[in-house]
Amino acid sequence: MEIIRTVSEMKAKAAAWKAEGLSIGLVPTMGFLHEGHRSLVKRAVSDNDRAVVSIFVNPIQFGVNEDFDRYPRDLKKDADMCAEAGADVIFNPSEQEMYPAGFCSYTDMALVTEGLCGARRPGHFRGVCTVVMKLLNIAAPDRAYFGQKDAQQLAVIKRMTRDFNMDVEITGMPIVREADGLAMSSRNTYLSGDERAAALYINKALSEALRIFRDGDADIQQIKRHIETTLSGLPSVKIDYVEIVDAETMQAIQTLDRSALCAVAAYVGKTRLIDNVVLEV
Ligand code: PAF
Repeated sequence: MEIIRTVSEMKAKAAAWKAEGLSIGLVPTMGFLHEGHRSLVKRAVSDNDRAVVSIFVNPIQFGVNEDFDRYPRDLKKDADMCAEAGADVIFNPSEQEMYPAGFCSYTDMALVTEGLCGARRPGHFRGVCTVVMKLLNIAAPDRAYFGQKDAQQLAVIKRMTRDFNMDVEITGMPIVREADGLAMSSRNTYLSGDERAAALYINKALSEALRIFRDGDADIQQIKRHIETTLSGLPSVKIDYVEIVDAETMQAIQTLDRSALCAVAAYVGKTRLIDNVVLEV
């Protein structure tokens, strides 16, 4: 497995593969990979002739008071995981390589980014769309893979590639959880033992919400209230949002008459975690 650090080399590699008629799968990541990422890499390897994992902590998707500086990084461990999962290339550019002096073009989106994390993290999806647009242009994949844990991000990328008529298939992969149900996230490393125990209630509340939904006679407000009641009893947990939205547009809905996303963002201590379940109609 090769580690490529420049845009020109990555573009040349992708062009050479294309000239040979090989298909390319891309897994965009910010590194500090976990089992969720491994599932994406394995899928990219099995669906495509060549698989690229990008590892780039993208500064422009972090707000000023967010964790860009302390975001966990471990390229050696990431490289071992990618090699073991069968990836061909890690694309690991520097900030200067991705955003050289004079850089001033951004990709933005309305509607799908308006609620949930888009509302709570102004500028976040502008940063995500811009970097993903660049990564798709650089690695020229036939397919790209994203986790369902970041459900709004997945919806945003699907919408962006459709709106810009991009020749790439976007695949969402199921949330991978720890044995006790905590959704895997690079940010779980920030949690103390007590915070980790409290964080489990996010999944517990969502699982309960799914059960209530499947039992059949609850409405949106009841389901949301159930989650809020579960989480608000925990001193180290501060709810950022509990929302039920259309699974594709991420717009608020009033009745459960179509597939919906039930999504939670909460601070556990200082760590902001997100998780969700799909309420399939
Ligand atoms: O999900 C992430 O890790 C990031 O938002 C992504 C898609 C790699 C863009 O920086």
